Amino acid sequence: MTELIQPDHKVELRLRRRMKQVAVAFAVTVLLAISGLFFGFGYLGEVTHVRIEAARAAELISLRARVDPTGWALDTKQLDKTLQTIHGENYTVWYEVLDWNGAVISSGGEYPGPFVAAGVADIIDGAAVVGAVRIAGRPHGLFQFASLGLLLGLVLSGCVIFILWVLPVRALDTALGRTESYRIALEARISELELTQDMLERQGAELSQTADSLFHARDQEQKANKAKSEFLANMSHELRTPLNSIIGFSEMVKLQAIGPVENERYLEYAGHIYSSGNHLLELINDMLDLAKVESGKLELEEEVVDFAELYEGCRSLLEHRISGDGLRLALVLPSDPPLLLADKRKMRQILFNLLSNAIKHTPRGGSITTSIQTYPKVGFVFNIADTGKGMAPEDIPKALEPFGQVGDPLVSDDIGTGLGLPLTKALVELHGGTIGLASLPGVGTTATVKFPASRIFLTGGEVKQAKA
Ligand SMILES: Nc1ncnc2c1ncn2[C@@H]1O[C@H](COP(=O)(O)OP(=O)(O)OP(=O)(O)O)[C@@H](O)[C@H]1O
Ligand SMILES: [Mg+2]
Repeated sequence: MTELIQPDHKVELRLRRRMKQVAVAFAVTVLLAISGLFFGFGYLGEVTHVRIEAARAAELISLRARVDPTGWALDTKQLDKTLQTIHGENYTVWYEVLDWNGAVISSGGEYPGPFVAAGVADIIDGAAVVGAVRIAGRPHGLFQFASLGLLLGLVLSGCVIFILWVLPVRALDTALGRTESYRIALEARISELELTQDMLERQGAELSQTADSLFHARDQEQKANKAKSEFLANMSHELRTPLNSIIGFSEMVKLQAIGPVENERYLEYAGHIYSSGNHLLELINDMLDLAKVESGKLELEEEVVDFAELYEGCRSLLEHRISGDGLRLALVLPSDPPLLLADKRKMRQILFNLLSNAIKHTPRGGSITTSIQTYPKVGFVFNIADTGKGMAPEDIPKALEPFGQVGDPLVSDDIGTGLGLPLTKALVELHGGTIGLASLPGVGTTATVKFPASRIFLTGGEVKQAKA
């Protein structure tokens, strides 16, 4: 996968070659241009100089020709002298004076060869051209000038090479070096990502395996739970029949319905059988209800329920325990208490279980307050707050579990079976509601039950169902 970012050396080589070509072409152009210019201007200078020399010599000879029109050409000594005063020793190497026919009158020096700077000027005797002066010299200055031009050209070409080749190549090397290090870092990052990807894929596979086995386990558990609930429901049903006989006959004995019992102790035993039978029946009923809820067999029989009326019913059932313990019970209702769409029997069970828990765990002189609120979005909410012994917040989940007991059963004398709260929770959830407990040891416990707004019936003239 990482080969994707391999550098392309061909492009780099092409670029280097192109840079070199451009730099060399510019350098050669600069060298040729500078040398050419120096050479050209130098040569022009030399030629101009020679021409001026020739013109000066011609002018001097012209003066003599004006004074002596016939004798000037004959006096060759004078001509040589004039020319030697004009030309510099180092400069003019060759001269000749011509008459009007073009014949050489006088000449001096040695003709410098093929590479010369030459100048010609006419000799005029005042009216007509009577001769000419020709001067030629080797252009020494030109070579110096041209060498200077060549030197300057070389220096400038060097600069051009430096600017157009050396500097860009250096910049290119630096850029390529940086790119290479980025590439290496990128490759390392990609390898890391590939490793991470592999790891994630492996973890993903493991997770889906775990999910599969969890689904399988859940299915198994659901099946086992259903089997357990069905077994419990059947067993509970089978147990209730003989238990009803035990309760009925023990009650008859207790009440001496068919004749007096002579021994008082038998009466006492019959009372024990009766209350234990009832306790057992309650327990079996709770278990049966819980098992039915778990197996999905318990259904709601909905009707309009007045919460305040239910509360009064539960309160009168528990009255002997309330007054016996000197507890204060209060119900706080809103000004227009709503009606509920619920299963009346199950609602009574919910309220009864929570109230009896509060009564059971609140010591003498304590208070238990039940209050109702309705909220348009949350729905119907009721709280039962007691000032009892409370429990540690971490024990609350345990209290909500079937047979969950908080505290030490050997120490506590108010211990029950631990089915009240889980059954209450199941019944609340069957109504689409939720239950929550808030508790602090030594401060008290508040149970909060919420039913959805769709279960609220508003009174006020006609009864109507509120929307959730
Ligand atoms: N209001 C409360 N104050 C303090 N502890 C409570 C309160 N309500 C419940 N508990 C704790 O939660 C435990 C479970 O309560 P739950 O109602 O399920 O069972 P129980 O009352 O012991 O037995 P029963 O099945 O007869 O109701 C109780 O044993 C008690 O320790
Ligand atoms: Mg209870």
